[in-house]
Amino acid sequence: MNKVLVVGSLNMDFAVYMDRRPLAGETVMARGMKLVPGGKGANQAYALGKLGVRTSMIGAVGTDSSGEQLLESLESVSVNTTGIQKMAEVETGKAFIEIESSGQNSISVIAGANAAVDEAVVQEQENLFAKADAVVMQLEIPVTSVVAAAKLARKHGKIVVFDPAPARSDLPDELWSLVDITKPNETELALLTGLPTGTGDEIVTAAKSLLTKGAKTVLVTLGGDGTLLVTADKVEKFPAYKVKAVDTTAAGDCFLAAFVSRFTGCNFAEAIDFGARAAAIAVTRQGAQTSIPTMDEVEKFT
Ligand code: RIB
Repeated sequence: MNKVLVVGSLNMDFAVYMDRRPLAGETVMARGMKLVPGGKGANQAYALGKLGVRTSMIGAVGTDSSGEQLLESLESVSVNTTGIQKMAEVETGKAFIEIESSGQNSISVIAGANAAVDEAVVQEQENLFAKADAVVMQLEIPVTSVVAAAKLARKHGKIVVFDPAPARSDLPDELWSLVDITKPNETELALLTGLPTGTGDEIVTAAKSLLTKGAKTVLVTLGGDGTLLVTADKVEKFPAYKVKAVDTTAAGDCFLAAFVSRFTGCNFAEAIDFGARAAAIAVTRQGAQTSIPTMDEVEKFT
């Protein structure tokens, strides 16, 4: 895709590194923390920009220093930020991320300005929809705004890419009928569908239930086990690249953005492989936007 619009969230990430995450009621000593630009929408926009795609974003930040840093980060990779509102009455979104030595994490998000991205904020930027080839959305802004964005994308004949994260069980069927490509991981797929995803067959059945609701293509990301492509005609598995993970934050965002950057409408195998390489590099680096590779790095990665 040459031109992509991302409609979604921007968060300042408070990333805390520790040997292992605490159990309920337990206190553990952490090794350190970093403040890193993040948010699923902003991570995807940043990655698209860094991979050379002409990218615009619709979203919102507060008029605080975190908001400024998030805009600067996107602008550093040439993302058009004119669709991101600066709202004086709310704080920029924040994410609190615990990362253990295995690279696995737990994330809690305070929506802040992301919750104020209502349908009107999305509709005001209709011109950005008209200029894009594809529109990419996630679920850290209100669902009604995601539906509004998908409808505008459809109205302008654009490809609708939907990352259903953080997953929830109450999405309207109308949304799935507007989606061309969706990318849940197996945990999200279980939450979205109410179906088990413990085995390969169960994952395929759950993914097909999203096709029944109207989604055209489901890409189930399986971490180190690769990616499962499920469409009406085929089920195909693609491998992941083996690396030593230090921080999995934004790996899914990086995968999706890299996939979209290579996708031309039917080259699933090539685009999934490009996404898998980009994500493999991202998990070897700390932080969200700080972990995103360049196009050159992804192309050279084997
Ligand atoms: O997908 C990773 C992102 O999830 C983090 O950057 C954090 O902000 C949360 O939105």
